[in-house]
Amino acid sequence: MLKLILNRALLLLPGLFWVIGANGQAAGNKGLKDYYAGYFPVGVAVTPALLRDPAAQALILQHFNSLTPENAMKMGPIHPEENRYYWNDADAIVDFAQQHGLKVRGHNLCWHQQTPAWMYRDKDGGLVTKEVLLERLKQHIYAVVGRYKGKIYAWDVVNEAVADENDKVYRNSVWYQLCGDDYILKAFQYAHEADPDAILFYNEYGTENPQKRDRVYRLLKKLIDAGAPVNAIGLQAHWNLTDPTNAQITDAIKLYASLGLKVQITELDMNIYGHNDKEAMAYTPEIEQKQTERYGQVFKLFRENKQYITGVTFWNLSDRSSWLDNFPVKGRKNYPLLFDQDLQPKKAYQSVVTF
Ligand code: GLA
Repeated sequence: MLKLILNRALLLLPGLFWVIGANGQAAGNKGLKDYYAGYFPVGVAVTPALLRDPAAQALILQHFNSLTPENAMKMGPIHPEENRYYWNDADAIVDFAQQHGLKVRGHNLCWHQQTPAWMYRDKDGGLVTKEVLLERLKQHIYAVVGRYKGKIYAWDVVNEAVADENDKVYRNSVWYQLCGDDYILKAFQYAHEADPDAILFYNEYGTENPQKRDRVYRLLKKLIDAGAPVNAIGLQAHWNLTDPTNAQITDAIKLYASLGLKVQITELDMNIYGHNDKEAMAYTPEIEQKQTERYGQVFKLFRENKQYITGVTFWNLSDRSSWLDNFPVKGRKNYPLLFDQDLQPKKAYQSVVTF
């Protein structure tokens, strides 16, 4: 009898070994975060609803060790009225992360979009003064950063403050119209006061385009020279199949790093459409192949620059739903991520984890 039991156990052993793996890790469940353990955390932008979906939740826990709230911490959603904060969604994401041991990137504290209407206005509907706006910004940052102190390791403090036009550095936002560029420095100071341990980011798109890159550099240099507690730059990385080039990405990373800043890829996706495409296209094997190669190349480049890169985050989980399905053309389906509409890994996934 004993012999029989022993024989059975021996038969089962190899299967057990495969499931648990040599290092205690579920080998069949190896995910992005495991392949990149020696490089950087791998993150994903999420909503509370996505975290409640069992299939999405399983995929997230397999592949990612960092979360960014897609919208829940933006000023409009989290601070809809002057004396009212809406914490539920942001809390749900932070609680989930705490429960599962994931990092959280806070996103974002000051932006020209998704700002609540009350922020800029006095009680008669006129624009507030610079002093009032900066005081409101301070109270906002103290409240939000203070609430998650010790639970959020990095904050996108200012988002997209640089102009798209080549002849000026600063975007002509209401923030800029009312405060000049002082609001940028102030936002970093307030965030640092609220949580001195948080890593503070300036986050921007188009950061690899040589002209915009040099304007972003000027903004950062000015901030650093003024003593702002800015530690890192977030390259949003809303890229497509041809733009930016690999050389542009590498040059940008090195240029920002030369200021002593760390770099994170904060909103990565690989649009199948070019900037000027208007019509919907089929996601053909040729397009998928191009995208696969491109994902492989950019992750190779991230690995080669691991001394500067402290995180890579995808903007959305799978091709089931991406913000690019509605931008810039409403309802035009896109396929920009590593997982398909059935949450299965695409060829692009293989190109990212094979090295
Ligand atoms: C910018 C913002 C993100 C998000 C995307 C579009 O990149 O930083 O928060 O809104 O646009 O979804």
